[in-house]
Amino acid sequence: MRLENPYLAEECAVKRVKRQTPDVYTYTISYPRGSNRLRMPFRPGQFIMVSIPGIGEAPFSFSAWDDGKGIFDTTIRTVGNVTSALMKRGEGQRVWVRGPYGRGWPMEEAKGKDVLIVAGGIGMAPLRPVIELVAKNRRSYGGLEILYGARTPNDLLFADEFESWKGIPDADLLLTVDSVPKGIEWDHGVGVVTTLFDRMRTEPNDSIVMTCGPEIMMKFVVKGLLAMGFQPKDLYLSLERRMKCGIAQCGHCQIGPKFVCRDGPVFPYSELRGLPDLLV
Ligand SMILES: Cc1cc2nc3c(=O)[nH]c(=O)nc-3n(C[C@H](O)[C@H](O)[C@H](O)COP(=O)(O)OP(=O)(O)OC[C@H]3O[C@@H](n4cnc5c(N)ncnc54)[C@H](O)[C@@H]3O)c2cc1C
Ligand code: FES
Repeated sequence: MRLENPYLAEECAVKRVKRQTPDVYTYTISYPRGSNRLRMPFRPGQFIMVSIPGIGEAPFSFSAWDDGKGIFDTTIRTVGNVTSALMKRGEGQRVWVRGPYGRGWPMEEAKGKDVLIVAGGIGMAPLRPVIELVAKNRRSYGGLEILYGARTPNDLLFADEFESWKGIPDADLLLTVDSVPKGIEWDHGVGVVTTLFDRMRTEPNDSIVMTCGPEIMMKFVVKGLLAMGFQPKDLYLSLERRMKCGIAQCGHCQIGPKFVCRDGPVFPYSELRGLPDLLV
């Protein structure tokens, strides 16, 4: 029997770097020819571990996946060692990738139901593949409603895709920002993302909610939706914790009995209630 080393990473190439906002870039990365990963099923919401030799390793979500070709996007905010090195080295650089890991968004459970997406800032990155999958399999899902908030209009990711998202049959996109800098035209909401609840049409029955953003944002999203009658089992959150191994060995990402890397990063709220060290 041949055992595969779970830490084994593959040398991949950064094909393209696209600026989304002043500090967020989308990296299009391709696996090498003949890679096993080309045949691995990918689920929206899963993550990979990306490392740069001599610098470090960090987890990032897929923001798109080109089925069968081994090419994917990951959309990353530049915050520290790995992310700064990625941004500075740009196109053509080599990175080491292992994964995909973790439990993604509940795309099977959502079939036949309305899908409500609530995203804050960089939290839209792991939700973009959900929008693409619903658009591709339009008849398998009910209505699609996307609520998206960011600090300013300049901090909204994928802004050049908003028109096509609005063009998905039976889909709505509602936007809001915390503030609008002088000189920028803005005819959407101003306020936190939960202020959009007044205008949304998704009802609690027969719907699945997927939310990602700062934990404090998700706390108020959950609170607001529970008050409207949504059920804890229908609210899915993607959690972020510092990770080392990504495969439930080191304990870095543990919250009580749950390993965010293995049991998440996506959890139904019904599994998170009462766990320690959580804001939600
Ligand atoms: C499942 C998952 C998916 C993710 N997906 C994405 C994604 O799609 N896009 C994205 O931009 N980010 C994503 N992240 C977050 C990303 O992994 C982190 O931002 C990562 O730390 C960046 O690595 P770095 O080396 O650049 O930053 P680091 O050098 O590790 O620093 C990052 C920040 O953390 C602080 N920090 C450093 N060490 C510690 C420590 N020990 N304890 C607490 N704080 C510390 C630093 O001061 C800095 O502010 C994801 C995280 C998880 C868990
Ligand atoms: S990152 Fe090591 S246990 Fe989750």
